[in-house]
Amino acid sequence: MSNILYINSSVRNTGSISRQISGEFITKLKAAQPTSTVVERDLTAHPVPHLTEQMMGAYFTPADQRTAAQNETVKVSDNLVAEIMAADIVIIAAPMYNFSVSSTLKAWIDHIARAGLTFKYGANGPEGMVKRKKFYIFTARGGVYSDGPAKAMDFHETYLRAVFGFLGITDITFIHSEGLAMGEDAVNTALANSRTAIAGLVAA
Ligand SMILES: Cc1cc2nc3c(=O)[nH]c(=O)nc-3n(C[C@H](O)[C@H](O)[C@H](O)COP(=O)(O)O)c2cc1C
Repeated sequence: MSNILYINSSVRNTGSISRQISGEFITKLKAAQPTSTVVERDLTAHPVPHLTEQMMGAYFTPADQRTAAQNETVKVSDNLVAEIMAADIVIIAAPMYNFSVSSTLKAWIDHIARAGLTFKYGANGPEGMVKRKKFYIFTARGGVYSDGPAKAMDFHETYLRAVFGFLGITDITFIHSEGLAMGEDAVNTALANSRTAIAGLVAA
């Protein structure tokens, strides 16, 4: 049995490829592991707030010294950190917006990257504290970035690998649906490729 955390971040509910493909993956995964639980967090329906000075002050105040208001303030981030820590598998649907992630997904990342909880600095530099998680990231992109002339503009997979790697998460599988703005044939090819990838992942 696995605890699955499922994050969605497309602004679209209708026609979203990242929601579609990640949803198909979860359906297969649940069929293969019927006792698994899924906690779903839709960052479009329920965006997490941007960081504020008040939040930063609460985060950096030791827990036993926080005021009642600060205890309330840290709850948003504490709950998000608890969700990720409780998960064995994290599935993220991440459309590319302006060469990187959506602002809603970035806001979520800002809450789960917590000094002392998900990473720490020691004599050897930073150390990620989020261990033994399997991440699947389903991207959707209008252009093609996995290869070719636009590869250098991929601040999407590169960013996600960097920030999650910093937190200790290194077992990440990306499933890219690309070229979605390049005509019907390209869309069909992208969907077929992603479905082939999913079939291989769940069968494996
Ligand atoms: C605000 C916005 C910015 C986008 N920026 C890019 C981009 O930089 N590069 C790209 O290839 N596609 C870009 N796209 C296209 C989306 O990546 C594409 O439509 C994708 O399918 C969106 O994911 P979804 O289908 O899950 O909604 C952008 C779309 C939107 C709405």
